[in-house]
Amino acid sequence: MKKIGIASDHGGFELKEYLRKELGNGIEIVDYGTKDETSVDYPEVIGNACKKVISGEVEGLIALCGTGIGASIAANRMKGIRAALCHDEFTAEMSRRHNNSNVLVLGGRILGKELAIRIAQKWLSTSFEGGRHERRVGQLETLS
Ligand code: RB5
Repeated sequence: MKKIGIASDHGGFELKEYLRKELGNGIEIVDYGTKDETSVDYPEVIGNACKKVISGEVEGLIALCGTGIGASIAANRMKGIRAALCHDEFTAEMSRRHNNSNVLVLGGRILGKELAIRIAQKWLSTSFEGGRHERRVGQLETLS
């Protein structure tokens, strides 16, 4: 991916800022907030950022909250979003190869900074395999 968004609530703010500064190598990162550690509601900030993926303004999104759970639930309620809450590189890789995830969710209060960078880099550099996975990903859009 070449152009992605990044967004968090207050619980993910510190890790968001770290990733935003450290991930810049070869990709454009659009920051959709939040701007500081003042308490905000994750459904609003993550929902608004997911709209930018759906509209095509960015190819994908890294979304963070404290645990990653709220951000994950919020993102996956939005049509067209396939959000993967990942705690390791393998699941990040497989979420791209098999699920064509377009949102990577990380827990700001769960992950160390170096692991978070490795997970994000793996996610950004892995492509969707297509094939039989295309059919399954397509079926996701029929669920309600
Ligand atoms: C905020 O305190 C916290 O609830 C939020 O960041 C997230 O972890 C929710 O799932």
